[in-house]
Amino acid sequence: MNIYIDNKQIDAKPGETIIMAAQRHNIDVPHFCWHPELSVAGNCRMCLVEVGTPRRNPDGSFLKDDNGELVIAYMPKLQIACNTNVSDEMRVKINSQKCIEARASVMEFILINHPLDCSICDEAGACKLQNYSTLYSEGGSRFEETKNMNLKRVAWNDKIIYDAERCISCSRCIRFTNENMREDILTFINRGDKVRIHRFQDKKIENEYSMNIIDNCPVGALTSKDFRFKARVWEMSFNRSICTLCARGCNVNIGTKNNEVLRVEPVYNKDINNYWMCDYGRLNLADKINNKRLSSPKIYDETIKVVGWENAINHTFNLLKKNNPDETFIIASPNSSNETNYLLTILAKQLNTNNIAYIPNINDNFADSILKTKFMSPNTNGLNALGINPININYIIANVNNKTIKTLIIFDEDFNNVIKSNPELIPAFAKLPYLILCISNQTPITMYANAILPTATFAEYEGTFTNTDNKVQHFKPVIITDNNMEYVDKNVELKCSRLDIFGAKNDKWNQKPIMDFKPTWYIVNELLKLFGINNNYNTASDIFREMQVTTNGNF
Ligand code: SF4
Ligand code: SF4
Ligand code: FES
Repeated sequence: MNIYIDNKQIDAKPGETIIMAAQRHNIDVPHFCWHPELSVAGNCRMCLVEVGTPRRNPDGSFLKDDNGELVIAYMPKLQIACNTNVSDEMRVKINSQKCIEARASVMEFILINHPLDCSICDEAGACKLQNYSTLYSEGGSRFEETKNMNLKRVAWNDKIIYDAERCISCSRCIRFTNENMREDILTFINRGDKVRIHRFQDKKIENEYSMNIIDNCPVGALTSKDFRFKARVWEMSFNRSICTLCARGCNVNIGTKNNEVLRVEPVYNKDINNYWMCDYGRLNLADKINNKRLSSPKIYDETIKVVGWENAINHTFNLLKKNNPDETFIIASPNSSNETNYLLTILAKQLNTNNIAYIPNINDNFADSILKTKFMSPNTNGLNALGINPININYIIANVNNKTIKTLIIFDEDFNNVIKSNPELIPAFAKLPYLILCISNQTPITMYANAILPTATFAEYEGTFTNTDNKVQHFKPVIITDNNMEYVDKNVELKCSRLDIFGAKNDKWNQKPIMDFKPTWYIVNELLKLFGINNNYNTASDIFREMQVTTNGNF
């Protein structure tokens, strides 16, 4: 069926509401309480629109005027677009004078008791209320009474802070906990201007997805304890990426300031994570990017030396050639991109060895029936598609101990989890004649390495991961490094905040040391060149295009 929004014809589906049909066609109907994944509450009245339907003849056909035009009867009162179903030839006005005045009145009403908190509110700059007050308010208030005071800084759990003064009573948080978390824990108490959210028996929200209610809250009434007061959003850059902490690969926006990750939020992808992500992913994704990074290649040549990349890669090549191929083992990783792992299969062929495998990173207790999977890395299925098999760490440790493995080259695997359950790994690796690490973060085994080639994390290079449902997802850098400036130059590829773009060399925020690492695929490709393989890959996309041809449609 067709409907018309401000005279623009769009198609609509039976059963759809006006706001849903409009959203499908990228027409914004202002709203606070409506959320596409929650039941309709219809309580904010921000989505008031004029609605008209064609008059009908007694036989049910549309009545037409003398000019052959449909005769439209408008409802006397404005209707809420979030709870009014479409009908054929419906006319909707969003921007008529009546609607503009209604929205201004709603804004005036909502702002009556809202504190002037924007200057200290984490939501400022990304707040629906702030945006709408700029777009739809008349700019004044007739409210002369004293504003209500209400609860501030109430911890709903150790991750969420509630500020009742900022709440606009949209009930999204109540509906989210009830409908998505299946916990009847929040409700409104009191009436009128005394209304506030109450937790049943003051219980803490224990759910593993609780922080989604922060994104859901259209104002700054719910904020993240982790992020509070770290930065103003306009100082940050937000770029789209993928959570790598389990095999779901939830789509996220990563917020950075001065190249440090400060905030991670879910991004809608109906085939992967819908609108949500788990709290574990949100709170832990930044850790590997921000902390304990390895920088500058180093080789152990009687003493540990910092060297240039060419020197480090030559040294690594020479180490790889020192032993019989059967005594060399390549550890690939479910943390590596498909492009890296594809090049590793070529490297194994050049080394003339079948000794290539990965250590599975599995935690059965982490998995649930919502998003979280037992695979705690992003790309186990990508390895399987390339025919790289899992291997038990005990096999590696035993063969290192009995000197069957003499050279171990490890890519994108820090073993931090493995070491917790297999502490014997450290003394075994300490005895290895040749240990080569191409990894991004410090681990207890870095001190035993003969060569360390620091690698970029997923936040600093481009590639693909294959998720738990075998969906191949593309990711791009979210952090500016010397290696990915070309993405910045393309302007749209990597968004930079004001500080990142305009900061001068002598600005304080630009004085962090520049990290010196390379994408793992680049390092493997440089090694392959020393084996005489000149692939001419300039970007990860070049490798991906080749993989699509050579791997029988696995990618
Ligand atoms: S806390 Fe936020 S989400 Fe909950 S009712 Fe208030 S404004 Fe809405
Ligand atoms: S479900 Fe997995 S991929 Fe999604 S946010 Fe959590 S850890 Fe990250
Ligand atoms: S969005 Fe329709 S009433 Fe709130």
